[in-house]
Amino acid sequence: MNKLLIEQVRQILSEEDKLAALCNLTALLYSETPNINWVGFYFHKKGKLILGPFQGKVACTQIDIGKGVCGTSFQNKLLLNVSDVHEFPGHIACDSASNSELVIPLTVNNVAVGVLDIDSPLFNRFELEEEETFLEVAKFVSEKLAA
Ligand code: SME
Repeated sequence: MNKLLIEQVRQILSEEDKLAALCNLTALLYSETPNINWVGFYFHKKGKLILGPFQGKVACTQIDIGKGVCGTSFQNKLLLNVSDVHEFPGHIACDSASNSELVIPLTVNNVAVGVLDIDSPLFNRFELEEEETFLEVAKFVSEKLAA
C-alpha cells in the first residue's frame, strides 16, 4: 500500500465540504498515479449512476445500474479489476484510449452509493498492491460520505 498517498488522501478529505474534498482528491489521484487516463466518481441518483468529480477526458454522464464495468461493480457491490476492458461484456468506452479499468464500490451502512473508477491506457495495469491502495482510498471516501 502507498502510505504517503494515503496520508495525502486523509489530509484532502479533512476539508469539510464533501464536493470540494472529492474534487481535490481526483486531482491528487490523477497526478500521483502513473499510467492512468481517467479517475473519478459516479454517484447513485434516481436509479442511475451520475458523473461526479473527475480528472481526464469528458466522460459519459449517466450509466444504468448493471451496465458497463461501473454499473456492474455498483450492482454487485464488488471490486472489479478488469485487465482488458475490450473483453468485458457491455464495457462503456468513454475514452477509446482506455484498456484496463479498476472500479471500487462506495458503500455507506452497507448500501452502495457510488463507485470510484480508474482507467488506464495500459492493459493489466492494476496490480494487487495498488488495488489495496485504492480500496483504502475508497474506504476513506465512504467514511467521508457517511459523516
Ligand atoms: N468504462 C466505464 C464507464 C465510465 S468511464 O470509463 C469514465 C464502464 O464501463 O462502466
